[in-house]
Amino acid sequence: MSVKRTSIHGQWSSRWAFVLAATGSAVGLGNIWKFPYITGENGGGAFVLVYLFCIACIGIPIMMAEILLGRRGRRSPINTMRVLAREGHHHPAWQYLGWIGVLAGFLILSYYSVIAGWALAYVFRAAGGLFVGAGGERVGEIFSALVTDPERLLAWHTIFVVMTMIVVSRGVQSGLEKAVRFLMPALFLLLAMLVGYAMSTGSFSQGMAFLFSPDFSKLTPAAVLIAMGHAFFTLSLGMGAIMVYGSYLPDDASIAQTSVTIALADTLVALMAGMAIFPIVFAHGLEPGAGPGLIFQTLPIAFGNMPAGTLFGTLFFVLLVFAAWTSAISLIEPAVAWLVENHGMSRVMASVWAGLITWVVGLGTVFSFNLWADDTIFGLTFFDLLDFATANVILPLGGLFIALFAGWTLSRKVTMDELKLGGISYQLWYILVRYVAPLAVVAIFLNVVGLLQFG
Ligand code: PHE
Repeated sequence: MSVKRTSIHGQWSSRWAFVLAATGSAVGLGNIWKFPYITGENGGGAFVLVYLFCIACIGIPIMMAEILLGRRGRRSPINTMRVLAREGHHHPAWQYLGWIGVLAGFLILSYYSVIAGWALAYVFRAAGGLFVGAGGERVGEIFSALVTDPERLLAWHTIFVVMTMIVVSRGVQSGLEKAVRFLMPALFLLLAMLVGYAMSTGSFSQGMAFLFSPDFSKLTPAAVLIAMGHAFFTLSLGMGAIMVYGSYLPDDASIAQTSVTIALADTLVALMAGMAIFPIVFAHGLEPGAGPGLIFQTLPIAFGNMPAGTLFGTLFFVLLVFAAWTSAISLIEPAVAWLVENHGMSRVMASVWAGLITWVVGLGTVFSFNLWADDTIFGLTFFDLLDFATANVILPLGGLFIALFAGWTLSRKVTMDELKLGGISYQLWYILVRYVAPLAVVAIFLNVVGLLQFG
């Protein structure tokens, strides 16, 4: 049976539009905010190597699987999984995969929006010339003044949720395409400039060595889990974001080519962020393991001490906000598409509901940095827990089941039909999605569980 479905939500104008939108989803706070700080916390080079391995051997094949499922089903992830399971006479429980994705989307967006709020706040701090001439200490003070003030965080979080809902309510195709088209090259240029500045700090080689020369004695089982979790997070995998974008993909677009392009662009941005940040960290005697505040405590030093730093700093944080925005939209799109499909809601109503839920859950993150900073479980705040559970548990689990569904449950005919790959490339994907990716995810999980029990 040949399947010629169309999505009720519309379609990308071209393959290129999809690449831009999916890259917009992938490139975000994960690359510029999270990658450097978790690399710093986990010892550098060896961690980066595991992360790169996970992108290539787990991320790319699962991304192809998500896109092909989405395009085949042409619905929100929940309904796509339901329809594909029914069509192939598979177990209806597969649709729960879509549900888990929707849940993950809410949880991630709830804290993502708070961090994006920091970036928004920094646009104004940069523009106001607050960083001019600032050193490590001053920049640290500016950061803690922001995060210890719940009212300010709440205000920025609210603004970011509203911004996201405005775009989502209009439909992801209109506007998003245009924004990403200029955003990506601009972000890239600014990062290149920052790398240039990092070269002038005198600690460039130390920063590069930290990032790229692996010291495997620093690689703990937990670090391996975090590297894998981040591969899912940074590529937007395991929760249906890429699946829902795939459901708007034209039939003739090559899934393999687009996946590789997206993964390459995403990885390049993350590595450049690392190359810009670590030399500054070492040049100013800062702590690589400073945690979630890392970029907010390093980059302002660069902007405060380079020519035209106020201009470039403002521009950088504006671009960071845009990068976060295009990711945030994709986090909530699976839920919104489902509300429209199953509850006959207008996009606007669906967005309002999704935004409200996100906003409320986000309060937990807002307070994690101030009022609730001392309320921890296993030493983790609400924010830490949410971040850990989503990126390192839910997304890899979601990805695991997506790989199992595409590699074992769906017929080869369906996957061949969608991927349209020649012999050896198809075989490579098939081996990766059927064996390598699932086994790697399970092994990394078991490794950590074993540690908890016996360590
Ligand atoms: N990939 C995004 C980033 O790196 C975050 C994200 C995760 C977006 C999961 C969608 C789904 O910032």
